[in-house]
Amino acid sequence: MRLTLSVIKADIGGFVGHSSVHKDVLAKVREVAEEGKDKGIIRDLSVLVCGDDIALVMTHTKGVDSSEVHELAWNAFKEGTEVAKKLKMYGAGQDLLAEAFSGNVKGMGPGIAEMEFVERKSEPVIVFFADKTSPSAWNLPLYEMFADPMNTAGLVIDPSMHEGFIFDVMDAYTGMGIQLKTPEELYDLLVFIGATSRYVVRAVYRKSDGEIAAAASTQKLSFMAGRYVGKDDPVLIVRAQSGFPAVGEILEPFARPWLVEGWMRGSHTGPLMPVAFKNAKPTRFDGPPRVIAAGYQIADGYLIGPSDLFDDPAFDHAREECNKMSDILRRQGIFEPHRLPPEEMEYTTLPKVLEKLKDRFKLVETERPKFSSEGEIAE
Ligand code: F6R
Ligand code: MG
Ligand code: MG
Repeated sequence: MRLTLSVIKADIGGFVGHSSVHKDVLAKVREVAEEGKDKGIIRDLSVLVCGDDIALVMTHTKGVDSSEVHELAWNAFKEGTEVAKKLKMYGAGQDLLAEAFSGNVKGMGPGIAEMEFVERKSEPVIVFFADKTSPSAWNLPLYEMFADPMNTAGLVIDPSMHEGFIFDVMDAYTGMGIQLKTPEELYDLLVFIGATSRYVVRAVYRKSDGEIAAAASTQKLSFMAGRYVGKDDPVLIVRAQSGFPAVGEILEPFARPWLVEGWMRGSHTGPLMPVAFKNAKPTRFDGPPRVIAAGYQIADGYLIGPSDLFDDPAFDHAREECNKMSDILRRQGIFEPHRLPPEEMEYTTLPKVLEKLKDRFKLVETERPKFSSEGEIAE
């Protein structure tokens, strides 16, 4: 039986501000999505929260891009939005860009990661879910999980992984994609995916048999709406064990924090902090960016789990390091590189300020400007 795992997520209103989700909003989304089980649209459902975002983790047999499954998620978020509006949650319905559902949630606002596979004898999967960042946040950990033998010992010593993996990469500006093989095209791959402001890993496949190993959400909300409407906080599905990296190899990149884009106003760099579900509430300067890891064993299409995989003292050092990195970055205040370069910021006043002051820009001369005794610039 071919099973599809679909993770569809949206921010339909924050409690308080952009920090988390109100329980009544969550309850409504869950109630509507659960109805999909009774109607036979999906087999099983698990609901996750990270910051102000809700993710529906769903199993079914309708394949990827199923309009029935997408519509179910859309309706759940739509009805949840009604509750969010009633409670005047912050930014209620912000990720539901279209007025009505039209067959597929792609391009409509919600983020989506999906994959189809034949369930193995035992099928461990991990769903990563992050807030206050963007899909390219997965580039570095995906590289380490599937192409870095210093992280994933299996690439060297497990015969079922030794041939390597294929990375499906997209240029977020043009929508063009390319598939690159590792290890042989590793340096070419890194030319692209190291440029996280532009290139994003969409999926990873095992080279020996083309089996899907990982799938990420690649929506860029800011581009979809043509204006800023919220962060494209991403999800990622990774299959584990028996020919894929072990659970510990998949989680290991997160033990060594790195910097991602998307903190405060989508305009700052910050460390991605791996946290237990209960700590996925970014409140310091609206951050720092958070990531949770939900582990499942899939049994006949049912989601056994989630297991809260970052709820482990072994990630305490990573969290401490994230706090130290945050202190260092916060010291920079509004100065780069904490603040993102102008073209990467979600919010900017630059064009307005430039326009206001355009006549005062003069070609710089070697002489210093002269000021009158009143402090005015002398002609
Ligand atoms: C939201 C986010 C927040 C907001 C900030 C300002 O994902 O990153 O940092 O950008 O709280 O929000 P507004 O403009 O809605 O007042
Ligand atoms: Mg929000
Ligand atoms: Mg969010």
